[in-house]
Amino acid sequence: MAAILLLFLLSTSIISTAVAQPKHSNISLGSSLTPTGQSSWLSPSGLYAFGFYQQDKGYAVGIFLAGVPQKTVVWTANRDDPPVPSSAKLILTTDGRLILRSTGDISITDSTEKVTTASMLDSGNFVLYNSGQEIIWESFKYPTTTILQGQKLLAGTELYSSVSDTDQSKGFFCLNMQTNGNLVQYPVANYTWTEWYAYWASDTFGAGDNVSLNLDNDGRLYLLNSTGFNTKDIVKGGYDTKETIYLMKIDPDGIFRIYSYKLNQDGNRSVIYNSSIDRCGPKGLCGLNAYCVFTDQRADCNCVPGFTQVKEGNSIAGCERDFAMQSCNGNDQRNQYTIQEVLNTEWENAEYSHLSLLTKEDCKAACLEDCMCEAAMFKDRNCRKQRLPLRFGRWKDSEGNVALIKVGLSASTETTKHDQGKRKPDMVILIIGLSLIGLVVLLVLFGALILRKHVFTYKKVSTISNINFCENVAPISFSFAEIEQMTNGFKDEIGKGAFGTVYKGTISDSLMVVAVKRLDNVSSQGEREFQTEMKIIGRTHHRNLVRLIGYCHEGANRLLVYEYMVNGSLADVLFTPEKRPCWSERVEIACNIARGLLYLHEECETQIIHCDIKSQNILMDEQGQAKISDFGLAKLLRPDQTKTFTAIRGTRGYVAPEWHRKLPVTVKADVYSFGIVVLEIICCRRSVNWNLPEEEAVLEEWVYHCFQAGELRKLVGDDEEVDEKQLERMVRVGLWCILDEPTLRPSMKKVLLMLEGTVEIPVPPSPTSFFCAI
Ligand SMILES: *[C@@H]1O[C@H](CO)[C@@H](O)[C@H](O)[C@H]1NC(C)=O
Ligand SMILES: *[C@@H]1O[C@H](CO)[C@@H](O)[C@H](O)[C@H]1NC(C)=O
Ligand SMILES: *[C@@H]1O[C@H](CO)[C@@H](O)[C@H](O)[C@H]1NC(C)=O
Ligand SMILES: *[C@@H]1O[C@H](CO)[C@@H](O)[C@H](O)[C@H]1NC(C)=O
Ligand SMILES: *[C@@H]1O[C@H](CO)[C@@H](O)[C@H](O)[C@H]1NC(C)=O
Ligand SMILES: *[C@@H]1O[C@H](CO)[C@@H](O)[C@H](O)[C@H]1NC(C)=O
Repeated sequence: MAAILLLFLLSTSIISTAVAQPKHSNISLGSSLTPTGQSSWLSPSGLYAFGFYQQDKGYAVGIFLAGVPQKTVVWTANRDDPPVPSSAKLILTTDGRLILRSTGDISITDSTEKVTTASMLDSGNFVLYNSGQEIIWESFKYPTTTILQGQKLLAGTELYSSVSDTDQSKGFFCLNMQTNGNLVQYPVANYTWTEWYAYWASDTFGAGDNVSLNLDNDGRLYLLNSTGFNTKDIVKGGYDTKETIYLMKIDPDGIFRIYSYKLNQDGNRSVIYNSSIDRCGPKGLCGLNAYCVFTDQRADCNCVPGFTQVKEGNSIAGCERDFAMQSCNGNDQRNQYTIQEVLNTEWENAEYSHLSLLTKEDCKAACLEDCMCEAAMFKDRNCRKQRLPLRFGRWKDSEGNVALIKVGLSASTETTKHDQGKRKPDMVILIIGLSLIGLVVLLVLFGALILRKHVFTYKKVSTISNINFCENVAPISFSFAEIEQMTNGFKDEIGKGAFGTVYKGTISDSLMVVAVKRLDNVSSQGEREFQTEMKIIGRTHHRNLVRLIGYCHEGANRLLVYEYMVNGSLADVLFTPEKRPCWSERVEIACNIARGLLYLHEECETQIIHCDIKSQNILMDEQGQAKISDFGLAKLLRPDQTKTFTAIRGTRGYVAPEWHRKLPVTVKADVYSFGIVVLEIICCRRSVNWNLPEEEAVLEEWVYHCFQAGELRKLVGDDEEVDEKQLERMVRVGLWCILDEPTLRPSMKKVLLMLEGTVEIPVPPSPTSFFCAI
């Protein structure tokens, strides 16, 4: 092999190398290769070779550019298999199979037909023929990292980057020619919601089912639809074709590039196109708990303070804590941790709590006080508390967040721990003593207090709602001054959502308690459009929808006034152990939501797609009835517009896959989100929870796993009383709703029939594939 290469190094033109080398245009049965003897079969011109190349301390089988000094690998057989030793042998057997013989026989192709000849073509395609001279297998159909001139990346296939330039096994990034016509890049390693994290796309979705990616011999890279129409030129081409070849490759850093090789200049290689010049663009490049800094054309990865690289020299593996975290058992954490800052960075928003705080110091204090909090992001008075891991961090100029990382106080931690260990017994004795004396008294007092408060709230609210429920059917238009008065100058903030802040208020003449939602960052709609929307929402009346009482549209101010729900959100109720409803109540809640959605989708005058169904947007009234709230994100549709393209809305974890695939979004997107909520209702936990063991972290995967294993009891509390049949029904409904393919999801009408047990529910298929393909 080395000798052959040396020959190429010395040669100046491919023609002369072809003359100097034996032609291997046709490889006959019985031929073989070894890593240290004859190691490859060359194409007639000597440009490409099929055979062994070195990988790590062993060898792999593939195709590489042999006619240039940088022996670029363009295709690899069984790329995830370990390298083989020098004793391995590649054989085209006399009975017509192409195998790699090492410890056992490994097939190079998936073809079962008998091979009669093989050929390494000058195009870089390695082909196998049958006795009828027909091609039965060709490497061009199974691209790995690269496509060559004349090669196509067909719809529904993908390229995966290599781990590194010297290790061709499957790496962390994918370039997918989707069956919807879009060419998309995203990370694949350990991210379940891969397509959500796309960082590059050709923006040609909807161009047809069978769009393919093509590379011409002048460097042009373009998309063709199935009838041969050019859908888009990604790279215009028109580059020098003389003694130059081009190839396109997704590199280990997640960027795809077109390289040119000047065959008359010692194979001088240059990049003629980068899918991005932003080297920090590919998401996940730096792994977890790290951020990317782009300087001097280089991307560098840095761990956040208190963390070190999991694998030295492998940035994609990310960073882990180098201090121990104490469990949250009520200890005051303030003297065990400190906060360290990372300025000017940007991260995936995975907040579990969002506070409006004036200063960074307040945000630090809020995180230190909260045992759950492991990091917080502060920017513009927004303090977002997060759990680890932190993802997709990158440097961003002064526009970025300040990342506040909770870090253990290293040396002093030891002593504090010891002190507490000693103090604890005294505390325990004290508590026991106290409780022995006063437990009964305390309990009685406490109970009475709770009871009084509860009854009082119940009465107050129910009388108020009685006054107003049947009056004022159309929503009222309020002035801004009236709303200011109602909310006492926006004093009592009760929540914050993606589109605005919610305040508690009282309509003074009726004493009705209301929730006022102040929208910010909404698109600048005209007054008439806003009014039309208000009318449509105002006309929706259903006992499972939160009622819109009024609105305000004055200057830049858009406010919505809703009836106030005493019992908070479904999320609050489900995820707070003390408030958790019993099984039959939970089933009823699922039915409530289904009825509300059915009304929005099919029964009101104008179809309404909610677009942001999640347990935070379901509110609980005083009787424990669930009501759907927040039409702030609702996409209003006229009956003739049943399909619509929009930017991604909604909330991560609940969003249907078609949002990120930019497919038309229909009512089925709500069905998907509803399915996730049903699973949350069953299990009383959030759809994504990285604190749980890995296999349980993503709810839908976990539920499907338990369903397949026939272990549904695992989904509910051990001691919880549930109707087994109903449990199975709920699980099946949930799984049907979250199918990837929107048309396979049931309508809300069907969902309700299934929940109520009126119709049989077939066994649901696997909801998602967690890989690159669609
Ligand atoms: C190689 O094999 C193919 C298919 O069997 C045949 O068409 C071609 O003529 C052969 N070429 C040579 C040089 O023998
Ligand atoms: C391919 O694109 C052309 C031009 O846009 C269009 O007329 C044709 O219908 C497309 N073919 C398919 C199969 O979508
Ligand atoms: C796309 O290709 C597949 C398989 O080759 C074929 O079944 C399908 O009909 C094609 N679709 C169109 C629109 O050409
Ligand atoms: C390679 O090509 C670049 C520009 O195309 C040129 O500047 C450089 O001198 C070439 N290098 C060699 C070794 O030919
Ligand atoms: C590609 O990116 C590299 C650095 O990442 C840059 O030096 C080069 O100029 C870029 N090439 C093109 C054609 O954009
Ligand atoms: C993905 O998960 C596997 C097993 O859990 C782990 O070994 C590997 O390092 C992870 N890769 C990344 C990029 O996090």
